[in-house]
Amino acid sequence: MQITTLANIKGGSGKSTTALNLAITGHYLGHRTAAIDIDKQASLAKLGERRRQAGRNEPMIVQAKHDDFDLIELIDGARTIGIEHLFIDTSGHLEHRDRLEIACRAALLILMPFKPMGPDFEALPETLELVAPLGLLERLQPLIVDAPPKYGFGENKMVRLAHQELDAFGLEAHPIIIRRGQPIIDGYVLAKGGIEVDPRHKACALFVHLYRDITRAVVPVVMAAAS
Ligand SMILES: Nc1ncnc2c1ncn2[C@@H]1O[C@H](COP(=O)(O)OP(=O)(O)O)[C@@H](O)[C@H]1O
Ligand SMILES: [Mg+2]
Repeated sequence: MQITTLANIKGGSGKSTTALNLAITGHYLGHRTAAIDIDKQASLAKLGERRRQAGRNEPMIVQAKHDDFDLIELIDGARTIGIEHLFIDTSGHLEHRDRLEIACRAALLILMPFKPMGPDFEALPETLELVAPLGLLERLQPLIVDAPPKYGFGENKMVRLAHQELDAFGLEAHPIIIRRGQPIIDGYVLAKGGIEVDPRHKACALFVHLYRDITRAVVPVVMAAAS
């Protein structure tokens, strides 16, 4: 089982949105995916609950409910039921750092959603201070998300600045840049993934490429129509 952890010690950076969309995209690609939400705010888990109420039981989205839950046990449980790619959605603060550390250590890839915006640039050192002492910097990959469309006054100026900020810390963003997408925003409101709202939208298609790229095993099945 492959584990990808979404981490960024900055609230609102796109962790839950990205975890949701990747898990759902992988599911429609024919992979057994699941997501564990270890954030006390449980925004992803609440979406999972609303999905179940709407009859969308897959992919499985699990909330680590209790204050004293054992993340290693939850991960083992996912492995036991045959999950192929597990996404761990973490919190935007350092409370329960021990759990954040377990989530990072367990992951083959620590994906750091990174919005091309000033406050996100400023918060960058905090995430590095979590990951670097664990010796896991090599597994950390920033993913530029919610990137604005090309402006008239220069091509994605903020995206260029984001690359510069990351570069100053020796980090290279994933080559796929997730665009700001209305289906992604709508999906969050409707407890759906972007591809369930509009699989043709560019931002959603990018999740398909991203899922394929970060998933080690060959993705077996051609994507069925999202419904
Ligand atoms: N690619 C995207 N396109 C549009 N909106 C996005 C995108 N990625 C994230 N967002 C928005 O950013 C906000 C914060 O995202 P969220 O995933 O809740 O962040 P976090 O889990 O890091 O706190 C949400 O309103 C979400 O809709
Ligand atoms: Mg979140």
